[in-house]
Amino acid sequence: MINGKKTFIVLSLLIILRKLSKEERYISSSPDETINVGENLSRELRSGSRVFALYGTLGAGKTLLTKGIARGLQIPDWYYVNSPTFTLINEYEGRLPLYHFDLYRLGDQDDLLEIGFEDYVQKTGVVVIEWPEKAMDLLCSLDVVRIDLHITGEKSREIVVNMGF
Ligand SMILES: Nc1ncnc2c1ncn2[C@@H]1O[C@H](COP(=O)(O)OP(=O)(O)O)[C@@H](O)[C@H]1O
Ligand SMILES: [Mg+2]
Repeated sequence: MINGKKTFIVLSLLIILRKLSKEERYISSSPDETINVGENLSRELRSGSRVFALYGTLGAGKTLLTKGIARGLQIPDWYYVNSPTFTLINEYEGRLPLYHFDLYRLGDQDDLLEIGFEDYVQKTGVVVIEWPEKAMDLLCSLDVVRIDLHITGEKSREIVVNMGF
């Protein structure tokens, strides 16, 4: 009985530790620091596909973080990476390709399927999605790194990276 309890406690602690280790929190005090966080997310990526879903209100720093991800992929002119305005996606060539979606203006999720969304998330490369909540039906079945950006002050942001399970 005592042993059973001990085992239960040890297992619970292991599960909590595992959860904690998959979540990383950063405090950014400037746009440059947010870019650095993004760069660190992509600089180690060598192959395969990775999807980053960026949550946060207007001005939270999603696009700046994306510029950093672009820098980590050695995309020339990474600083000019910007949200697509007339299309849903911008593509950039780097060590790995970057597919940058901004779904702010997305009306119907079918519009995403029409431009081949399901192919993009399987290609070798990095997919970054701003306003992923607009495509929840398509994203919920994918292996996605969830990133939440919170405005905590004029120049400060909290960035929570959740690698998922
Ligand atoms: N620590 C910070 N991290 C990111 N952006 C910051 C920070 N401090 C101030 N800002 C400002 O917030 C804005 C973020 O813009 P942007 O990245 O386009 O946000 P989003 O794409 O989430 O709407 C920029 O004007 C930037 O200068
Ligand atoms: Mg943006």
